[in-house]
Amino acid sequence: MDRPRITIFDTTLRDGEQSPGCSMNVQEKVRLAQQLNRLGVDVIEAGFPIASDGDFEAVQRISATVRRPIIAGLARACKGDVDRAWQALQGAAHPRIHVFLATSDIHLQYKLRITREQCLEQAREAVAHAKSLCADVEFSPEDATRTDAGFLCQVVEAVIAAGATTVNIPDTVGYSMPEEYGQLIRTLREKVAGIEKVTISTHCHNDLGLAVANSLAGVQEGVRQVECTINGIGERAGNASLEEIVMAMRVRRDRYPYENAIASEHLFAASQMLAEITRVPVQPNKAIIGRNAFAHEAGIHQDGMLKNPLTYEIMTPQSVGVPDSRLVLGKHSGRHALALRCEQLGHQFERRELDEVYRRFVVLADRIKKVQDGHLLELIRDVVEGNTSNGSGVSSTGKKFPPATAALPLPRAAAAAANSGDAHIAQVAGSAGQATVKIPFSDHHGEQEDYLWGV
Ligand code: KIV
Ligand code: ZN
Repeated sequence: MDRPRITIFDTTLRDGEQSPGCSMNVQEKVRLAQQLNRLGVDVIEAGFPIASDGDFEAVQRISATVRRPIIAGLARACKGDVDRAWQALQGAAHPRIHVFLATSDIHLQYKLRITREQCLEQAREAVAHAKSLCADVEFSPEDATRTDAGFLCQVVEAVIAAGATTVNIPDTVGYSMPEEYGQLIRTLREKVAGIEKVTISTHCHNDLGLAVANSLAGVQEGVRQVECTINGIGERAGNASLEEIVMAMRVRRDRYPYENAIASEHLFAASQMLAEITRVPVQPNKAIIGRNAFAHEAGIHQDGMLKNPLTYEIMTPQSVGVPDSRLVLGKHSGRHALALRCEQLGHQFERRELDEVYRRFVVLADRIKKVQDGHLLELIRDVVEGNTSNGSGVSSTGKKFPPATAALPLPRAAAAAANSGDAHIAQVAGSAGQATVKIPFSDHHGEQEDYLWGV
């Protein structure tokens, strides 16, 4: 059976660019649009042409150079905006005019100072005008989630009759809860005449950290387009993050049996490019593409990862384009990870010998956050030479440990993996020489003992 297809609408270049510190020049927007194209997004919202000459030019240039996806230009619900958007989209292979008008009483009363009747008429007129220019028209009732549900149904019905092909339901201020958002979509599907003819879309902001959850709740109620941004950038707390939406649906296909066209192995590159262009770094613990998203520091975790990555990883770093899983050596690391790193640096220790290295390592890791290869090599040298200079005492064995040489066999784990058909790749990152070692699923012994040993 064919799985329903979810259209991924990227608004990094429009809503995303509206976030503080994220503005981009035309050249940067074109570069990012090309990356979005490689990523496989279905729609690129390239800008808001009436807003500035730069936005107009960006939409124009992206239309001319990025030919596969639909290129959307945003317009308020008035003739001047719609015409300007259409002008910018002239060269697009697949143009879309995206018209929006606020519908909540708060916005009507305080921002637009118009009545519901005027709002309804303005929406209808603007969509009809857009439709006279372009076959593909999207309409967004801004602040939909705080709009009276009956009035929202009326507006949606009117714009469908006027020719809208996509109806987007924005949670503009990130106020909705997932069940509530899902219920709103259900209501629209039950009450609005003609709704089955159009694509329903989500556009959720993250003010309560629920943008992705709300978007997914919408998908479960029949939404077939999700609007989102790379790194979740956007007004205030941002938009639903594209990478989270895509990977949530991919990893939990059992709950979300839908298809999308995203080539997820390009996610990390898209995220890095955006961070580089805007100079807005990604928070380290950001899901999917944050620096720590695939890093394992706690000893128990590292031990589990080394035995089988499935213990602590629900997707592979490779699947989202992160070069490799990283085991960070810090004060919470365990002996198992330390032993592996030592092996990669050419030093193999027996357990009691490793205890001494580990003891000194913990003292050092307590002082500096991350132990790099250089530090570790220095520490090993001290231990091997029976040096007490690290303040960690004499080697417990009193023995000097010879470093492994090139003539020695491959480190144990690597050698075992080389003989194993079913190995995952784990990498211990360091400042120098990041050796990749394959860890077979079954390379463990004395599980309980190792479990404790790994702490
Ligand atoms: O958040 C919002 O309501 C918007 C609309 C213009 C779609 O960005
Ligand atoms: Zn928005």
